Amino acid sequence: MSTSNKTKHEPTVLLGVTGCIAAYKACELLRSLQKSGARVKVVMTPMAAEFVTPATFKALSGEEVAIAPIDDPARPIHHISLAEEADVFVIAPATANTINKLANGVADNLLTTTALATEAPLIIAPAMNVHMWRDEVTQESMDRLYERGAVIVEPESGYLACGDVGEGRLAAIEDIAQATLAELSRSRDMEGKSLLITAGPTREHLDPARFLSNPSSGKTGYLIAEEAARRGARIALVSGPTDLKDPFGCSVVRVTSAEEMLEAAEQAFAELEPDAAVFTAAVADFRPLERSQQKLKKGDRGRETTLQLVANPDIMATLAADKGLTYVVGFAAETQDVIEAAAAKLETKNADMIVANDVSDPTLGFASAHNRWHFVSKDGVESTEILHKRTLAGLLVDRIAEAT
Ligand code: CTP
Repeated sequence: MSTSNKTKHEPTVLLGVTGCIAAYKACELLRSLQKSGARVKVVMTPMAAEFVTPATFKALSGEEVAIAPIDDPARPIHHISLAEEADVFVIAPATANTINKLANGVADNLLTTTALATEAPLIIAPAMNVHMWRDEVTQESMDRLYERGAVIVEPESGYLACGDVGEGRLAAIEDIAQATLAELSRSRDMEGKSLLITAGPTREHLDPARFLSNPSSGKTGYLIAEEAARRGARIALVSGPTDLKDPFGCSVVRVTSAEEMLEAAEQAFAELEPDAAVFTAAVADFRPLERSQQKLKKGDRGRETTLQLVANPDIMATLAADKGLTYVVGFAAETQDVIEAAAAKLETKNADMIVANDVSDPTLGFASAHNRWHFVSKDGVESTEILHKRTLAGLLVDRIAEAT
C-alpha cells in the first residue's frame, strides 16, 4: 500500500527551506502555492528549523515536515520518496551554503540529498548577504546550477537583514510562486518548433573606445528564449552585448553592431527556417558614417563638432519582407499612443504581432524585472497585468505555440 498522500492529479510542490532570516517568507510562499491549488510538502535543513519551527510549516501545509534523513518510519528511504513525490522542487530561501553544496552534488542533509535524487525541475530563489552573493564561488555555483537546467529566481536589491544594502534579498513571493507554478504546468508545446530571437542593444562604434548605444538589458529576449527552450523549441538567439548568461538550452550568437546582427539573423533565418521570429533587440537606428580605426582626439575641433550618422538596416523589416510561413513578432517601446503606434508597426514591418509596452512609466520597462504588455495583432489587442518579465515571456510563448 502506498503511504503517500499524493493522488494522481494532485500537483505536488516540494518546498525546500534553508537557514536564513528570510525562512519566515517561505510560509507566505507555501500559502500562495496552496491558494493556486498545489499540494505543498516542506523539507527543511536543520539550520532552517532554528529560524522557523517545523510545527509552523506542518500546520500550514497539513503534511509532515521532513528534516532528518530517517524521521518517518513509514519512509525509511525518505529522500527517495520525497524526490519521487515532487513535481517541482523549489528551494526558497536558498542560502549560499546550500547553493554551493547543490552545485557540487554534496548531499549531507535531507534537503540536499533529495535535490540530488529528484528528477523534478529545480527552482532556486537565493537569499543572502550581498558579499556572499557576489562571491566568485557563489556565482560559479549559480552558473553551474543554471547550466544544468535550474530555474533561478534572482534575488532583489535593497536593505538586507544584516544592515548592508545590495543584491541578496529574496525575490518577491509572488514572483517565486509564479515561477514555481509555471514549472508545474509547463507543457512541451514547442517541441519540434524553432525560433529565431534577437535581443539586447547594438553598439555603433565611432572609434575603438566609443560607441552609440542604449540601456537595453536584453532580459526580455533572453527570458523568451529560455521559456521556449524549456518548452521544447530549438532556439537561435542573436544577441547584442549584454551581461546575461547564455539562456538554458539555446544556441547563442553574440554580435556588436546592427550590421553584424542583421548578418547573423539572416544566416540563422536561412538555416533554421524558424516557425517564429521574435525581434526584441533595441537596434540603434543610426551608426556613425565613418568609424575611425584609431581613438579620435579632441584636437582642434573647438567646443562644437558634428557627427555624421547613417541609418542602420531594419533587421525585422528586412527578414519579415520575405518571411514565408514564419510567424513574426516585433516589440515596440512607446511613450505615447502606445496601441496606435504598435498597430502602425504591424503594417509597416509586415509583422503578425507587435508586443507594445509603455516606457513612460519609470518603474517599468528597460531596467525593471516587471512590465505590462499589450499583444497587438490583426485579431485585436490583449493587455496583461503588471507581471514579472518571466511570466510575460510565458504568455507570449503561449501565443506563439498557438499560432505556429
Ligand atoms: N527593429 C529591428 N531593426 C531596427 C529597428 C527596429 O529589427 N533597425 C525591430 C525591433 O527589434 C522591434 C521593432 O523593430 O521589434 C520595432 O522597433 P522600434 O525601435 O520601435 O521601431 P522603429 O522602426 O525604430 O520605430 P521608432 O521610429 O518608433 O523608433
